Amino acid sequence: MSERLFIFDTTLRDGEQVPGCQLNTIEKIQVAKQLETLGVDVIEAGFPVSSPGDFQSVIEISKAVTWPTICALTRAKEKDIDIAVEALRFAKHKRIHTGIGTSEAHIRYKFHSNPDEIVERAVAAVKYARRFVDEVEFYAEDAGRTDNAYLARVVAAVINAGASVVNIPDTTGYCLPEEYGAKIKYLMENVPNIDRAIISTHCHNDLGMATANTMAGVMQGARQVEVTINGIGERAGNTSLEEIAMIVKCHKHLGLETNLNTKQIYPSSRLVSSLMNMPVQPNKAVVGRNAFAHSSGIHQDGVLKNTATYEIIDPHDVGMEDSAIVLTARSGRAALKNRLKTLGVEPTQEKLDKIYEDFLKLADKKKDINNDDILVLAGAERTENQRIKLAFLQVTSGVGVQSVASLGLNIAGEHFEACASGNGPIDAAIGALRKIIDRHMELKEFTIQAISKGSDDMGKVHMQVEYNGHVYYGFGANTDIIAASVEAYIDCINKFKS
Ligand code: KIV
Ligand code: ZN
Repeated sequence: MSERLFIFDTTLRDGEQVPGCQLNTIEKIQVAKQLETLGVDVIEAGFPVSSPGDFQSVIEISKAVTWPTICALTRAKEKDIDIAVEALRFAKHKRIHTGIGTSEAHIRYKFHSNPDEIVERAVAAVKYARRFVDEVEFYAEDAGRTDNAYLARVVAAVINAGASVVNIPDTTGYCLPEEYGAKIKYLMENVPNIDRAIISTHCHNDLGMATANTMAGVMQGARQVEVTINGIGERAGNTSLEEIAMIVKCHKHLGLETNLNTKQIYPSSRLVSSLMNMPVQPNKAVVGRNAFAHSSGIHQDGVLKNTATYEIIDPHDVGMEDSAIVLTARSGRAALKNRLKTLGVEPTQEKLDKIYEDFLKLADKKKDINNDDILVLAGAERTENQRIKLAFLQVTSGVGVQSVASLGLNIAGEHFEACASGNGPIDAAIGALRKIIDRHMELKEFTIQAISKGSDDMGKVHMQVEYNGHVYYGFGANTDIIAASVEAYIDCINKFKS
């Protein structure tokens, strides 16, 4: 039987502390609803005493969200707690997250106090909050740099005072994973009433160790993790929700489960990134643009044979499309052949070698090789083998006159001609073509693009035609956009299976 790991999301509180990333209440509600869909257990909705905006957001999120617990942050002060209670009044399930700094630096420089007085203030805050809500979480700020024996004393005292969750933040992101794990282990072994509370991790990423520290804590018995979408948060950020979710999913032997619907990870990441105007770094684990993109020839060859060779996560599991084989100068023939196949081109080995040679020359000059480039490279080879070829095309069109096209096709060596008028030159040309090839086909998509900016340059046409229950993709490239359109249509027809 797996043990439950509770997900406490603080995107809307610690995450929102990022300069320039503030959200308005409507945007916060959007994020909160997405977090609910994602399946987080607790949403830390804000720090109500900090501003009227935060206060209002906690109220509105409490109204909008149904099953996750809504949590509000406070300092260990009655005034903060009163305001949090007020902000949480509409929450169906509510929690107050109160706390105080416990490290020597915090006690001495921030509070000008002493360890005994800090324990008293912590206990008083928890007791006061428990007068209003059943669930109180206590945070020992800067626990990462707090002496373990003193921390154990604080934790035991706040559990006795009524805290059911105790958060052990590595506020400055200082700890090594081994050290943070040992801290949680120490608490699990030395706090006599630890069985009456859940220990929570809250790690910052100043030294890039937030996820490792969180996992170290979990492996020593912490059963709640405080995380944010895309790892956003103060300074270098917090532990990423998506990383923890996928670690737990990939490492089943840990015997842990969450309530998350991991397919909602990518949509959540996109939403937070776009609302906060905070781009996700391309190599970000799990949700970065390149997280499932394979670019080296060796990897591409392996992934095409079996994704298990280089992928530990199925991109669909996090709500992404298939993994991407990115064609670059380092790609091999296997990747090129695969891409050509998906575009409906299956050259012989000899022709593939020729296309590959041209591809490498182009890849040296152009960073991003797209499907159009590939089709243009394969184009000469393709038309040679096509059963249906455009023999000639003449179109008359202009302003105030009807467009008329006459067109000749070569079909398996036989010549056919037809004329048609239409609503514009392309319509007329396709009308003439359809007079020769009289099948029930439906144009589903038609896109025209210029390859570059010059008026004498190639135009590209992409088409999708439905025939006999299948959709066929066609492409044409020509300096004459009408000819490119007819070529794209013919390209589709040449791929018809019957
Ligand atoms: O990093 C931290 O210590 C915090 C607490 C307020 C929970 O964010
Ligand atoms: Zn924090």
